[in-house]
Amino acid sequence: MTALQLCKGTLALILAFGSISCGFGFVIVFGDSGFFSVCDYGAVGDGVTDDTGAFLEAWQATCSTQFENPTMIIPDNYTFLVHQLTFSGPCNAKKITFLVLGNINAPTSPRAWTDLDPSSWMTFHGIDQLRVSGFGTIDGQGSKWWNQSCRYHPHLEGCTSLAPTAMKFLSCSASSLNNIKLVNSPQTHVLIRGCRFFDIGNLLIEAPGTSPNTDGIHIQSSQHVSIANAVIGTGDDCISIGDYTSNIYVSSVTCGPGHGVSIGSLGRRGNFVQVENIHVSNVQFKHTTNGARIKTWQVGKGYVRRITFEHLKFDSVKNPIIIDQNYCSIRGACKEMPTGVHISNVAYVGLSGTSSTDVAINLNCSRSVACTRIVLESIELMSANMDRQVTSSCLNAHGNAIGVVRPDPCLQS
Ligand SMILES: *[C@@H]1O[C@H](CO)[C@@H](O)[C@H](O)[C@H]1NC(C)=O
Ligand SMILES: *[C@@H]1O[C@H](CO)[C@@H](O)[C@H](O)[C@H]1NC(C)=O
Ligand SMILES: *[C@@H]1O[C@H](CO)[C@@H](O)[C@H](O)[C@H]1NC(C)=O
Repeated sequence: MTALQLCKGTLALILAFGSISCGFGFVIVFGDSGFFSVCDYGAVGDGVTDDTGAFLEAWQATCSTQFENPTMIIPDNYTFLVHQLTFSGPCNAKKITFLVLGNINAPTSPRAWTDLDPSSWMTFHGIDQLRVSGFGTIDGQGSKWWNQSCRYHPHLEGCTSLAPTAMKFLSCSASSLNNIKLVNSPQTHVLIRGCRFFDIGNLLIEAPGTSPNTDGIHIQSSQHVSIANAVIGTGDDCISIGDYTSNIYVSSVTCGPGHGVSIGSLGRRGNFVQVENIHVSNVQFKHTTNGARIKTWQVGKGYVRRITFEHLKFDSVKNPIIIDQNYCSIRGACKEMPTGVHISNVAYVGLSGTSSTDVAINLNCSRSVACTRIVLESIELMSANMDRQVTSSCLNAHGNAIGVVRPDPCLQS
């Protein structure tokens, strides 16, 4: 049974391989897998026509299909303009692949979000066993948002503090995001929240170093998340790990420009922080503000524990190793409190490279809740500036140093 047909016609089934495009849209059935191209649901892909409705219809078909492992396809060589939308589960299909081969662009104007939630662009909600993959590019077209952001234009009338996250994955399990390229999100590029077992791999994320709040990947209220082989350069954290997270593995990442890999900020609302088993290894930081950072608010309670930063390389990083337990959005504006998030069992192992400031290790713990069981092992940091020496600074930081060549470690026992 073989049938081919044009994009605008009804669906056809074919039992063959071939090019998948908007000119020749079709559904392929192969074993228990159905392929659903957005072009079969009216997408045009000229970068101008609004293809949102077609994406939603293709999703409905994919989600509700009888096939166990369907694939929704965004075909190669087309650019689809897509407004805010949510791909919702639960689905009838067991394992869905969302294959991005072409490009998906957001509207360029923030006006497209009038009367809509400004924090989201594309959201995947309540879907298990979702696989998002492909070689396509997802472009958040953020520059108009950046130009009106209150962070960089505080005196601009009508400035905005909240801008869309390009891709949100909410309430999911056993899912993954691979191979795609994400650029110029209005705010955070990828958010993982309320998920268990999520794998991210081979991701490229790019936005200008001057773009406000454009975190690469933010993880919150999630367990068992891994990120491997990512290249991230943005205007904010490459990866930030928020509250209620555990068993997070980050490895083989290149970070820069940006603010580094950050655990926090945590405890902002005086909540009981629970963050543990975070493992960050083989990260290369290039001209970032921070390297390995943990930041907590003094009003917070709870714990951050069993954290490992291993095999990190720094190339002219402002704060290669930093714990800031007195974090405040305006430095010095938060008054000293008797509370704090307890930071313990943090190991820094095999760290090398250069610092662009003199203080290469800054463990600034609270006076009331000490940092305990900190391990500094096999560390050699140098100044990025000729003729300067790097130093370390510790406040109420307790633990052991083994084989730290430079700077002199300042931990208390
Ligand atoms: C996309 O365009 C490239 C270059 O023009 C071409 O080689 C490729 O076959 C096209 N792919 C499809 C699916 O049409
Ligand atoms: C953002 O502002 C810059 C500087 O004023 C300007 O050159 C650029 O065109 C603006 N971008 C957009 C998309 O409005
Ligand atoms: C430590 O934190 C306090 C409170 O934010 C700040 O005033 C001080 O400058 C910090 N010390 C270092 C060495 O960064």
